[in-house]
Amino acid sequence: MIKKGIILAGGRGTRMSPLTKAVNKQLLPIYDKPLIYYPLSVLMLAGIKNILIIVNKGQLNQFKKILSDGKRFGVKINYIEQKSPRGLPDAFILGEKFIGQDNVALILGDNFFYGQSLTYKLKNCVKIKTGCKILIHPVKKPELYGVAEVNKKNKKVMNIKEKPKKSKSFMAITGLYFFDNKVSQLSKMLKPSKRKELEIVDLLNKYRKKNKLSYEHLGRGGAWLDTGSIDDFYNTSAFVSALENRQGLKIACLEEIALSNGWINKNQIKQAINFYGNCLYSKYLEKIIK
Ligand code: G1P
Repeated sequence: MIKKGIILAGGRGTRMSPLTKAVNKQLLPIYDKPLIYYPLSVLMLAGIKNILIIVNKGQLNQFKKILSDGKRFGVKINYIEQKSPRGLPDAFILGEKFIGQDNVALILGDNFFYGQSLTYKLKNCVKIKTGCKILIHPVKKPELYGVAEVNKKNKKVMNIKEKPKKSKSFMAITGLYFFDNKVSQLSKMLKPSKRKELEIVDLLNKYRKKNKLSYEHLGRGGAWLDTGSIDDFYNTSAFVSALENRQGLKIACLEEIALSNGWINKNQIKQAINFYGNCLYSKYLEKIIK
């Protein structure tokens, strides 16, 4: 069972400047909460309590102000500052000590997941013992993502490419990955690509060549949204707002997930209400402990 997870929350956020000049992208709002709440909620729904967040150098205090050590929502958060973004697999090099002898999940700090069977799928993915598992989902524009060609019959990944100009497949590789303990060692063997970054597809290919790369569909009823650009931010916010206001249930309320996982009690929710102050988020927390 994977019990450790890394959130990669660095990046320059260049595409969203000037919004990202002073504040890290992951702390900007998706509707009523900071973006980082959403990937963090995914790890928590997977049952992962031991979390490493990789942030840009100089931005650690911004994250600590809102997430602190994670105790408020029943998890343990460690942080590492990254001097400059060197590509996704760098997470496993920087996080080698944190990973130790265990398997690990990685989620990109700007990925949004939602769906009826999400928790069920996540609980399946954390079961991997060896190899790597990716979550795939169809997209209209595969050229913007890592793309997987899969063989439905034997459930094997046949081919993967990063942002291919032309592709037979519309299956994007989402920013959520589950790895065995070889991941740090394999990441250290990678060479920077033309854009001078370590590439996640190169790492995945190492697993694929050994027949150790498997996949899971998020499923048609699931949503995987992007928060890469300003328009994506607004679209994802609109999605969250539509669902939350219709149902009266919040997406990615960390304290609610922790309570239902049995990681915190009602008293700790009251402390969280004190932390947030008089706001709609606190009103929601009051409602769930009534
Ligand atoms: C990264 C990965 C890509 C993946 C995507 C998911 O792309 O390189 O394979 O499909 O995340 O969000 P980036 O967002 O860095 O362009």
